[in-house]
Amino acid sequence: MRSSKEIHLTHRRLRTSRSRNKSEVKEQLVLFGATKAKIINVASVPQRSPFRYPGGKTWLIPYVRKWLSANLSEAKQLIEPFAGGGIVSLTAVGEKRVQRALMVELDEDVAAVWQILLSDDAQWLADRIVHFSVTKSTVESLLCKKPSNLREKAFSVLLKNRVSHGGILANGAGLLKHGENGKGLLSRWYPQTLRNRILDIQTYKANIKFVQGDGFQILRDNAHRTDVLSFIDPPYTVAGRRLYRYSDIDHAALFQIAAKLRGSFLMTYDNADEIRALAEENRFQIAEIPMKGTHHAEKTELIISKDLGWLKIM
Ligand SMILES: C[S@@+](CC[C@H](N)C(=O)[O-])C[C@H]1O[C@@H](n2cnc3c(N)ncnc32)[C@H](O)[C@@H]1O
Repeated sequence: MRSSKEIHLTHRRLRTSRSRNKSEVKEQLVLFGATKAKIINVASVPQRSPFRYPGGKTWLIPYVRKWLSANLSEAKQLIEPFAGGGIVSLTAVGEKRVQRALMVELDEDVAAVWQILLSDDAQWLADRIVHFSVTKSTVESLLCKKPSNLREKAFSVLLKNRVSHGGILANGAGLLKHGENGKGLLSRWYPQTLRNRILDIQTYKANIKFVQGDGFQILRDNAHRTDVLSFIDPPYTVAGRRLYRYSDIDHAALFQIAAKLRGSFLMTYDNADEIRALAEENRFQIAEIPMKGTHHAEKTELIISKDLGWLKIM
């Protein structure tokens, strides 16, 4: 990670789409130099979620911790309106960085897992995982059956997530053929590890609330509150389409809601021109953060907020 000397916030003079006509120039705070920051070693971050979530933010956790610490004085609750695999809420509450978290997710399959993980049926789920023998035929036969109740549904979703390409749950995702080291379906199925993660969540689940619903609405409902922090990780503009069942969101509307939030927010996005323009319009700050994508290709993603001053101390 870079030292405070190397990272600096500075004003960049930008022509905005609106100002171009009037030949005005607006200023926007942009973090320079972050593109040269070191890529976070994901293995150094405790993996608390049983999901292998596409677009998951384990790699961003060191940045999330800094953002939380910089804003803790105001924070009673973390809101994660696009929860997915939930690594940010689990880390924030599990590491006692916030008192409480509210997780929101629209996808009913993903929701089934969270509902069971945070209920008295979590032990059942942990045991089901440990006693299930993964072979091509047991997996195929389970995944083509309609689950008889919510906990069977949660098991089936988690199984599919662990044995599909890229953890993708959206329709059309195929099962792993070769996986890591040619281990096929078993390459991402670690029953004891998953059991331990599920049981660990039980020790702090009283401080997490999960809602199946619309993250936009939850943000609007809580916009007036100064005692909440919002971690906003929506489906991205490009990749989102093939990764999630619900991926078609109104990015401009999300930026407008973020502009009205009275508590601090941290938003993440793909490094796309459309998103940079929305950040600029709303006078948000942006920084490019390096990460490793699929197949270990290096790329950058954006973090966006009203104030990224805390990055200076990374
Ligand atoms: C980028 S993923 C979140 C990944 C998560 N931060 C993690 O680390 O695992 C975005 C999630 O938003 C969900 N989603 C899409 N539209 C939504 C909406 N209107 N309300 C709540 N969740 C939504 C998708 O189902 C997907 O799980």
